[in-house]
Amino acid sequence: MRGERAAAPRRRSVLGGLLGGLALGAAGCTQGREARPAGETSEQRELEVFSWWAGAGGEATALRVLIDRYARLHPGITFVNAAVAGGAGVQARAVLEQRLQTGRPPGSFQGHAGPELLDHVRADRLQRLDDLITGTGLADAMPEVLADRLRTDGHLHGVPVTLHRANLLWYSPRVFELAKVDGPPEDPESFVETLEKIAAAARLPLALGEAWTAKHLLETVLAAELGAAGYERLWGPEGDWRGPDVRRAIRTFRSLLRRTDPDAGTLTWQEAATLVTEGQAGCMVMGDWVYGLFAEQGRRPEEDYAWAVAPGTDGVYQWLSDVFTLPKGVPDAAAARAWLRVCAEPATQRRMAQVKGCLPPRTDAMDGIDGGYLGWARDAWEKDTPIGSLTHGGVASNAWAGEIDRALTLFLSVRDSTRFTEDLAAAADRHAGS
Ligand code: BGC
Repeated sequence: MRGERAAAPRRRSVLGGLLGGLALGAAGCTQGREARPAGETSEQRELEVFSWWAGAGGEATALRVLIDRYARLHPGITFVNAAVAGGAGVQARAVLEQRLQTGRPPGSFQGHAGPELLDHVRADRLQRLDDLITGTGLADAMPEVLADRLRTDGHLHGVPVTLHRANLLWYSPRVFELAKVDGPPEDPESFVETLEKIAAAARLPLALGEAWTAKHLLETVLAAELGAAGYERLWGPEGDWRGPDVRRAIRTFRSLLRRTDPDAGTLTWQEAATLVTEGQAGCMVMGDWVYGLFAEQGRRPEEDYAWAVAPGTDGVYQWLSDVFTLPKGVPDAAAARAWLRVCAEPATQRRMAQVKGCLPPRTDAMDGIDGGYLGWARDAWEKDTPIGSLTHGGVASNAWAGEIDRALTLFLSVRDSTRFTEDLAAAADRHAGS
C-alpha cells in the first residue's frame, strides 16, 4: 500500500529494476547511487528520479549538475538515477507509463510542459506545486507562456529545468562550401534546392534519425508553411488539417525526406547529428540539445558546424521545456520536494542550461548569457513569437500525438501524402480541442 511504502525504505521491483538496468546498460551507464546516507541516520532515505537523460549530448552531464547539487545539499539521501536512455523520452515514457499504471511512481519524473504533462494531471497522478514554485521565486521568474503550459485549473504541476528550441537547422559550413551553397536556406523552397546541391556534391543532404526526428522535421515544416498563428491554430478546434497549407507542408516534407538516408531510422539523434560535424551530411533539423552535444564533443562553431533557424521559421521560437514533477503516492515526498527546489534554483538552472544547450526557464537566470549559440537564442527568445512543439509534448495530448506517430510511421514507409493528410485530419477530428 502507498502509505506503508512511503514510511518504509523503498524497494525497487524486480521488473522495474530490470527495465531500468537494461536501458541504462544500452546507454553505457550504471544505476547510480549518488550519495551515501549520512552515517548517523537510522532509517535510510532515498530519492529515485526518472528521466531520459542517460545519453551523450549534454543530457547525462546536465542531469549530473542537478544530482551533484542535490547530493551536496542532502548528503543523507541516497539518489537513485533511474534514467532510461532514448531521445525525446520515447522509450522512457513507455517504461514510466507502466510504472505509474501499476502504482510504482518514482520520487520525481521528467516530462514536457504542455498537454503531455497535463495528461498526467488529468489522470490524477501529480501533486500541485504552487507553494514550491511561488516559494522559490519561479512563479514570478518564468515566462507566462511556459507557466500557462504547466497549469491546470489554476494550479502548477511541474518545475521546468530547460527552455529548448526545436526549429533549428544545424549545418556543415564545409559541406555547404563544397556544394556551392551560399548560406542557410531561408524558406522551404530554397531548402529543397539546397539539398539538391548537396546531393550533387555527393554528400548526404539531410541527416535524420529514428522516427521521432522525422516528426520533429515535420513540425518545423508545418510551422514554416502555416506561420506561427496557423500552426498554433492546428492544435485547437479551428485547425484546418485538410486545407491547402497542410497539404503543401506535407508535399514539402515529402520532398525533404527524399533527400535523407532511407536507413536513417536506425540512428540515434546523436549519431545523425555527428554526420554533420564529420562532413558526411550537409545539415539536420533538430533542437538545441545538438548544441550541447557538439560542445561536449569539442566541435568548433563556424568550422565544424553552424546553425540557423529552420527554413521558413524566422521570427518563430518553437519552444519546449523539460520539467520535473511530484507524483502522488511518492515514498518520500520531502526528499522529492527538496529535489524540485534544487531544480528551481537560478544558479543551478543556469549551470545546467550551459551544458544542456538551452536557455534556463527562469528569466532571472538568463542575465549575462551572451555570445555564442546561447546568446543568439536569448536574443531570439526576447523578440520571436513562441509556438509549441508537437514532438516534445507541447501541443497535443499523448493520445493525439500517438495517432500522429502511427500515421507518420505509415507515411515513412509508403509515402502516400493523401493518406497521410487524411490520417492527420482524422486524428485532429478526434482530438482537437478536447
Ligand atoms: C528533451 C530534451 C532532450 C531531447 C533529445 C527532448 O524531448 O526535451 O531535453 O535532450 O529530447 O533527447
